[in-house]
Amino acid sequence: MKKEFPKGFLWGGATAACQLEGEFDKDGRGLSVSDIHAYNDKLNRMSVGEEFKENSNTIQQLKDNMENKELYFPKRYGIDFYNTYKEDLKLLKELGMKSFRFSFSWSRLFPKGNEDKVNEKGLEFYINLVDEIIKNGMEPIASIYHYDLPLNLTFTEDGFLSKKTISYFENYSKILLETFKEKIKYWIVINQINLFPVVLFGSFGIADDENGEVSESKRFNALHNQFVICAKVKALAKEINSNMLIGTMVADGHNYPIDCKPENIKLAIRKNRQEYWITDVQFRGEYPKNALNYFDENNIEINWIKDELELIKNNKMDFLGISYYFSKIVDAKKHNMKPESYMTNPESKANEWGWSVDPVGLYSTLINYWDRYEKPILIAENGFGFEDEITNNEIHDQNRIEYLKEHIKEVKDAIYDGANVIGFCSWGPIDLVSSGTAEMTKRYGFIYVDRDDFGRGTQKRIKKDSFYWYQQLIKENGENI
Ligand code: BG6
Repeated sequence: MKKEFPKGFLWGGATAACQLEGEFDKDGRGLSVSDIHAYNDKLNRMSVGEEFKENSNTIQQLKDNMENKELYFPKRYGIDFYNTYKEDLKLLKELGMKSFRFSFSWSRLFPKGNEDKVNEKGLEFYINLVDEIIKNGMEPIASIYHYDLPLNLTFTEDGFLSKKTISYFENYSKILLETFKEKIKYWIVINQINLFPVVLFGSFGIADDENGEVSESKRFNALHNQFVICAKVKALAKEINSNMLIGTMVADGHNYPIDCKPENIKLAIRKNRQEYWITDVQFRGEYPKNALNYFDENNIEINWIKDELELIKNNKMDFLGISYYFSKIVDAKKHNMKPESYMTNPESKANEWGWSVDPVGLYSTLINYWDRYEKPILIAENGFGFEDEITNNEIHDQNRIEYLKEHIKEVKDAIYDGANVIGFCSWGPIDLVSSGTAEMTKRYGFIYVDRDDFGRGTQKRIKKDSFYWYQQLIKENGENI
């Protein structure tokens, strides 16, 4: 049997509204939680092996940021895609992309999140955008929520913690599913539903308490509400057009033991089972025993309503989106069962932000998820952030090419070994604002955007060497990799 990618494989690229659209206050758009992420020079550059930390977001800090006129908020401006999408999509067509993952900005459609009626101007933008994606020969892959809750819902509802947010989300997604029922087949309800320990505020929009914390009880209740939301979206899709596929999405997933000491192996197994309980809920329809044990041991009470559990059971997800950046390492001497307790791989080389490179981790993640659920898998994100050097209008980004080549080889192996992988979306096919650090310097694109961390530059788009490499790879359907 030949190692190959299936016909019709969705080679593509992935983006998010809050990192590229800009025009944060145009045509009636409201502020979202991402619009108050200020650029600062104490960026999240970690050393390898370090654990993640997030900034604090108390109500007072949020209000201060809203009013602050001195700081720069890159996600408000993105790469101005709201105005440049036609030219940008043309370039991505030239790149040969077969799919384009984008997200809707909830606050462009419902500025405060809780209105009954959609903001028509916002909807018009997305109708045009989706038409343009299709016109350029790409399959649109839509995320309904990617780290940009309407900020108003943080103040009025404590984000996803409130049951009211579930019904606001339902109203929001109903409009989307109805409007795009014939045009969008693949839907990801919530970006990286498992990554809340790292992207806490973006995931849930819950303000921190005075100690700069969000309790575990709040986190798991908000997560439960997101499970209910996913199930509601699936139920709506069944009614509106059952050809639409509703997916969930997780980040990374796989934990390695630091060595072969039995206690480290056991911890890795337990941590991996803990990762899986999120997808267990969404593919098997029930909370597994280890999740219930964790709640019990940590005095977490979930405010679940019987009907919600029924809904989840009857509305399982159709496919799994995975974003993969690095593998995770656990060491029983340092780590415990808290979801945020792990580190990046100290054995691998890493970029300046401490993200270590481990292509094989992608293979194991794909195979493990495939074997567990046997649901189609979309690689919804993969890529590596670098600071690109530009000389004479050229960018020779061999490091990006090497990174992607090695990862795509592992995807090919996973497919050969039986995993049903339907597509590969490289993160940020055109440079965009970093989610974690809100800077432009951490670039992922095949297309360079001449714009710095403060939005200065010509805004010109320049094709990097990786552009031609990815173009060729797509042309050959990955045959020579
Ligand atoms: C993923 C997010 O976790 O990682 C993207 O879904 C994000 O939004 C990507 O951009 C890369 O992270 P960063 O912080 O380098 O932009």
